[in-house]
Amino acid sequence: MKRASIKHLCAGMALAISSCLWAQTAATQPAAASSAQPWWKGAVLYEIYPRSFQDSNDDGIGDLNGITRRLDYLKTLGVDAIWLSPIYPSPQVDFGYDISNYEAIDPQYGTLKDFDHLVAEAKKRNIRIIMDLVLNHTSDKHPWFIESRSSKTNPKRDWYVWRDGKGAGQPPNDWQSDFGHSAWQFDPKTNQYYYHKFYIQQPDLNWNNPAVRKAMYDVERFWINRGVAGFRLDAITTLFEDPQWRDDVAVKDENGKTKINEYGDTQLDDAMTNNLPEVHDVLRQLRQVADSYKGRDVVLIGETYLNSINDLKKMYGANDDELQLPMDMQIGFINKLDVSLFRKRIDEVQNDVNGDEPMIVFDNHDNPRWDRYGDGTHNQDIGRVIATILFATRGTALFYYGDEIGMVTTPPTRKEDVKDPVGLTGWPKNKGRDGERTPMQWDDGPNAGFTAANVTPWLPIPPSYKTVNVKNQVMDFDSMLNWYKQLIEFRRSTPALRDGKNVMLNTSDNNVLSWLRVAPGQPAVVIACNFTAQPQKVSFDLSSQGITGKQAKTLMKTPGSSDPSSLDNVQLPPFGVYMGQVQ
Ligand code: GLC
Repeated sequence: MKRASIKHLCAGMALAISSCLWAQTAATQPAAASSAQPWWKGAVLYEIYPRSFQDSNDDGIGDLNGITRRLDYLKTLGVDAIWLSPIYPSPQVDFGYDISNYEAIDPQYGTLKDFDHLVAEAKKRNIRIIMDLVLNHTSDKHPWFIESRSSKTNPKRDWYVWRDGKGAGQPPNDWQSDFGHSAWQFDPKTNQYYYHKFYIQQPDLNWNNPAVRKAMYDVERFWINRGVAGFRLDAITTLFEDPQWRDDVAVKDENGKTKINEYGDTQLDDAMTNNLPEVHDVLRQLRQVADSYKGRDVVLIGETYLNSINDLKKMYGANDDELQLPMDMQIGFINKLDVSLFRKRIDEVQNDVNGDEPMIVFDNHDNPRWDRYGDGTHNQDIGRVIATILFATRGTALFYYGDEIGMVTTPPTRKEDVKDPVGLTGWPKNKGRDGERTPMQWDDGPNAGFTAANVTPWLPIPPSYKTVNVKNQVMDFDSMLNWYKQLIEFRRSTPALRDGKNVMLNTSDNNVLSWLRVAPGQPAVVIACNFTAQPQKVSFDLSSQGITGKQAKTLMKTPGSSDPSSLDNVQLPPFGVYMGQVQ
């Protein structure tokens, strides 16, 4: 595929959206990975926040039929699987992460029939569905909790974490909720406290109870039987609490002063309630269930915010018998373009997890979008740098709806508009997560094509939709959308990019992050990303890799930049990217 000729073609037919690069390449898209590998290796995964993707019944809330309607778009983008954040019945205090029935669909999103239809239509396009499995807690409206709180002798009492207080009005210990204030809620009916790592309406399950485990493994089977290809395991590191109920410890700043967090609480480490070793038993059991479906390659992805590569490594399991894809949050959330930190952490996940598959994450429904890396002047170029790191390093790539068009974080400006309770507790320091959950921007028409013109969407459409939308970007060869699409395509069709080893280059350069992808018997690919606002020149000596050639065929480069004359002289504009196949 030659860029120049396609650009020319597009210019002549500006309005024929379905033609040009966008449609042409979809038809030639090869399968995601060679058949010897599980489907998720090197795959491209796309997170959908269903409330915000596409409304099909004009109630201002996205739904399953809306997602089905957009499957062709996802196919053309090159997505192998979509992860749906929770669509189960829920009081929606935490927008679905408070589940009141694990084996049904919330009527806001549709029905089980709609779900089956989505799975079937996605399958026709070779797209798999990944469910979000919330194991740490249920909703306080789940029948299990209603029973549990009804009396101390109820058979479900021990399904949750109940304790006596230390004294009148005093919770059992100092543990805090991730969403602010004490993690203990007093329940006057039985004079005990229950534990909630998240909202008060999200009581934690007691994973020491075998009946809880069995119930949840049955949920896992229910959805695999219904055709899902895997699960994203929510808050998986927080299933267990210290069996001795010891206090957490206050975090001090560099002057030894206790820190206060954005909710106004003393900041504690959460060593007593996070990443306890017992989690690994559960991961092995979940994996056994997944693996019992022979030939299905059911994948387990973990929401694993961890502090070290060692902890991340453990999540794969000592015998590769836990998560296939624990998310690496160490790279994507560095939150500043620091070449040496990126190099170090990419190297770690490439080399220090026993050769297992990395999964780098930059964006999701809980964090400000990619534009947190922006400098306000070169944001588009910085967005390209991030996408390049995501797709051109070895691993399974996961990105968040809207990233591909460069949708930006748009937080509420007034407290009364906030929907996410975190934003109400934390206002104004923490405005909550609404800013990264705004509706998908499909076109520049009313409500950005997300819902009908006369409907008020559940979150406002960001003003950027007039220019930042799918319809505009399909037609623009140099758009973020086409950058994503080309990266995904090259990754599929170029063996070194798909499976090759990752070798860092020019490791003392602190302005440009460069690396090589090498696979036996295949042309290597060199990638360079300028992390600075100044032009940079780089040169590559690949002789230590046994490569003597100095010429490369350009695969991708920042729009407007020129092809390098040789690998001795690669010029990068500010935050520029170059990717070339070594000849
Ligand atoms: C996870 C989810 C987040 C949710 C929390 C509690 O971190 O990603 O959205 O609020 O768990 O379920």
